[in-house]
Amino acid sequence: MSGRSYHVTTFGCQMNEHDSERMQGMLASLGYEEAPQRDGADVILFNTCSIRETADSRLVAHLGEAKRLKREQPERIIGVGGCWAQSLKDEVFERFPFVDVAFGPGQIHKLAEFLTSDSITAQGFFDFEGFAGHLPAKRVREFQAWVQISQGCNCNCSYCIVPSTRGREQSRPDTELIAECERLACDGVREVTLLGQNVNSYGRDLRAAGNRSFAELLRAIDRVDGIERIRYTSPHPKDMREDVLAVHAECGAVCEHIHLPLQAGSTRILKAMRRTYSRERYLDRVDLIRRYVPDAAITTDIIVGFPGESEADFAETLEVVDEVGYDSAFTFIFSPRRGTEAAGFDPELLVPHPVKVERIGRLVTLVQRRAAERAQRFVGRRVEVLVEGQSRTDETRLRGRTAHNKTVNFEGTAAPGEFVQVEIESATSTTLAGSERLLSRAV
Ligand code: 5AD
Ligand code: SF4
Repeated sequence: MSGRSYHVTTFGCQMNEHDSERMQGMLASLGYEEAPQRDGADVILFNTCSIRETADSRLVAHLGEAKRLKREQPERIIGVGGCWAQSLKDEVFERFPFVDVAFGPGQIHKLAEFLTSDSITAQGFFDFEGFAGHLPAKRVREFQAWVQISQGCNCNCSYCIVPSTRGREQSRPDTELIAECERLACDGVREVTLLGQNVNSYGRDLRAAGNRSFAELLRAIDRVDGIERIRYTSPHPKDMREDVLAVHAECGAVCEHIHLPLQAGSTRILKAMRRTYSRERYLDRVDLIRRYVPDAAITTDIIVGFPGESEADFAETLEVVDEVGYDSAFTFIFSPRRGTEAAGFDPELLVPHPVKVERIGRLVTLVQRRAAERAQRFVGRRVEVLVEGQSRTDETRLRGRTAHNKTVNFEGTAAPGEFVQVEIESATSTTLAGSERLLSRAV
């Protein structure tokens, strides 16, 4: 992590200035330093504002410079966020193919995951979740923090650039991580998100030194006073075992949310991807999750249009999505990454772009329908919400997140960083709505 740097250029309104500040806070918490000049940065970000920016030749000139810098040093990451990126979505990549990541306003938490997880491999647009993104309203440090537990990856997924750019998996010693969580808790952090390419193989490289396994690490952090929520991303389905699920069932702070990247529902494609699990094995992991944590929110990543993906293969992905009923999913159009095995596949196997676009459209529709159906289970329930700030669409309402990682917009009076009970009145595929319930306090 050491020595990496970023540069952010902000266009537009106050809200964007504010978002950029949070981006900087997030990058600092991941160990990035601010580079004084764009040409010295490993991560170059543009936070764009309104649609008007399209006509703004300033932005286009800036992007021209970014293109040159990317050419000079291809491992640089170029990111474009904000409303202009939102208005173009995947078109950003067609018009500016050197861009690695685009994200809508309020998707800063996704940017963090992108920078620290598998996501670095994707040319992906992280969609706008309405104005109620999961973005902590205050500086990330105050009550939420990311903790990187490992870097690198020992897998060989054929589409993925991580093994070649980040090398073998290296875990950080457990004692260091626990001490970091204790320090964060003293600073007022109440929720930590543990990050790594394959979190559940955490610690294997240090086992000889007596380091904890991932499940044991979760138990140890669960005991840290003040840390009330623990999240992590991403586990690899091949390494998802009962010891971690038992922790979910037994440890109060470990959230009822598991992000289990599927990538594809066809065993044939999974094999070509070198994911080392079959469709059946994946579904078996889902059953295991539901056995230990029946109400868990399960989310996923899916790639469409992997080379050789036939309509029948894609139909299998849809079947798995229908069967699992994800609470949400990130969907990606396959794009070859330089030097990966999949980039060298026979060009005849490539799925034409319009077919990919058509498939992702069908996939997103199904994901949203199932997510909306799943979300109805919360209606009428009282859930605990960690308040993150004001609702982005309605200043009079608050916004926060549940342990299931659902965004909730609600009537209430609590302050950011507080936990409150909210009675859920309605639910869409992405957000819940409700009202704060004061705990039986005598009046
Ligand atoms: N093309 C498309 N999507 C990809 N991802 C990783 N590499 C690629 C690629 N070459 C997706 C995977 C991963 C997510 C973060 O990015 O779904 O889980
Ligand atoms: Fe890439 Fe696969 Fe490792 Fe994830 S598990 S970082 S997709 S090689």
